[in-house]
Amino acid sequence: MLANELREKYLSFFKLKDHVIIQSASLIPENDPSVLFTTAGMHPLVPFLLGEKHPAGKRITSCQKCIRTGDIADVGDLMHGTFFEMLGNWSLGDYFKKESIALSYEFLTSSNWLDIDINRISITVFAGDADAPRDETSANLWKKLGIPENRIYYYPKKDNWWGPPGETGPCGPDTEIFFDAGLPECSSECRPGCSCGKYFEIWNNVFMEYKKTSTGKYEPLLQKNVDTGMGVERTIAMLQGKRSIYDTELFLPVIGKISELSNKSYSDYIKPMRIVADHLKAATFIMGDPLGVAPSNLDQGYVLRRLIRISVRQARNLNLCHDNLISISRTIAGIYGDVYPELMNNWNFIEKNLTEESIQFELTLEKGLKEFEKIISNPESICDGILSGQLVFKLHDTFGFPPELTTELAAEKGIKTDIEGYREAFRKHQEISRSGSDIRFKGGLADCEENTIKLHTVTHLLHKALRIVLGNHVMQKGSNITPQRLRFDFSHPDKLTDDQIRKVEEIINKQIERNMDIEISEMTVEEAKNKGAIGLFEGKYGEKVKVYKIGDFSIEICGGPHVMNTGKLGKFKIIKEESSSKGVRRIKAILE
Ligand code: SER
Repeated sequence: MLANELREKYLSFFKLKDHVIIQSASLIPENDPSVLFTTAGMHPLVPFLLGEKHPAGKRITSCQKCIRTGDIADVGDLMHGTFFEMLGNWSLGDYFKKESIALSYEFLTSSNWLDIDINRISITVFAGDADAPRDETSANLWKKLGIPENRIYYYPKKDNWWGPPGETGPCGPDTEIFFDAGLPECSSECRPGCSCGKYFEIWNNVFMEYKKTSTGKYEPLLQKNVDTGMGVERTIAMLQGKRSIYDTELFLPVIGKISELSNKSYSDYIKPMRIVADHLKAATFIMGDPLGVAPSNLDQGYVLRRLIRISVRQARNLNLCHDNLISISRTIAGIYGDVYPELMNNWNFIEKNLTEESIQFELTLEKGLKEFEKIISNPESICDGILSGQLVFKLHDTFGFPPELTTELAAEKGIKTDIEGYREAFRKHQEISRSGSDIRFKGGLADCEENTIKLHTVTHLLHKALRIVLGNHVMQKGSNITPQRLRFDFSHPDKLTDDQIRKVEEIINKQIERNMDIEISEMTVEEAKNKGAIGLFEGKYGEKVKVYKIGDFSIEICGGPHVMNTGKLGKFKIIKEESSSKGVRRIKAILE
């Protein structure tokens, strides 16, 4: 079964079971500072898992674009990819364990759907701890459906608990479904979760009935939800009898292109070719997103920069240059063009940024190699035939030289590298930068703290006020809210003058003082547009959306939540205005 057919089958199965299909949200989370990328299908649904009403109802299904950067080090093995698609079905306070498990079972094993042999399925459930009880309910449900006791495993929180994706938010115990690839057990310890390739994890059903608070407690949620996720790449690999996600139609044309351009065979260069294919796919999707970003030294732009740089470095070993990277990215956009038309729509942006970044890094790499030569030929750098960890770190930090590359190059000259010393220098550097990122991981809409909600409402006022002062070309390009401040990115070519900033503040404070009520209604995107609503329309055609109206001042498509009246907001103040990327400005503001 090909990916197209799996997506189709999954969504139509859940539609038949009264779920409403929603489009994939952006890869860049809106209004949520707790993570840089959408990491799961549940991410855009966080406010609704916490109790907000979803306009599509209580049963939802989707195929969501996701990026997980925590797995970058594993890329190139059998099953890990940075970009992946997650099929999911959700119950927002509707059905719970019994129906969820029955639905999964039917979709997997029925001859009308995936028709998987039940003898190849193993299950894991939560073993229980001080925060939540052992999940005998799920285990019993699986047993009743015919899964024998010896294929049901009880695992602790680290394996069978999902979420929250940031520090706080909805979470709960899960039951995971594994497919047996038919290989012999690698050892007596081989069980679901083992990385030998025998067990594919294909589906995860999370029973989200808890909310993790900022003090680390697990409190019951207002409603009991189900959040499930099935990886498209893994599932089609399994259905096609392939051992690896890289051996399916979602990767093979890309690997084929790399092999053709480099004139090298895949079997001789498995890992570098997989890394280039994976990283360029993630980079293509990040730049091609409706909220696409360009490489930079900040947040998503920085991850993108790293993905491109690693690709350039690997590509160099395959004798590929920046032109070849563009052809590979184009092949990727071609594979996904029908499902994610944004890749072709934004192709010029992808091509321009990928070209600029890879040319620039090719030059940096040249310089880095020269620096390496200089360092290595200086007798003071080497002590007892070993290059110091500090210098290995400097090459990494300043020239993007990963320690393995330095080690390889040094080995060619008969010199060793102090990798322990490198790790120590790296740790010290992380401690310094972590103090900054800790702030980012606190709070967010996932918390639904009062201040966060207030700042969210004022973001709508800001969006409108900017359009009044600067013009209707102003569009939201990103938003990130913590309980302390809002950050709003928008399209505008020039720095704002002091006068413009003052005008925006004045307009907003005047609107706040008008004590306007905030009204919420639901309508189709077309109706919302006709009413003059602003907001992100892309990918939402035909769907019902929530529209927030602030008096007669602002009308915007948004998931919420918001305060009920502007009078509660306090005094609005812009604390910073700066460039975010080319053609995009960034405002940071507070409520006093
Ligand atoms: N959120 C869960 C996961 O990512 C289920 O979708 O595995």
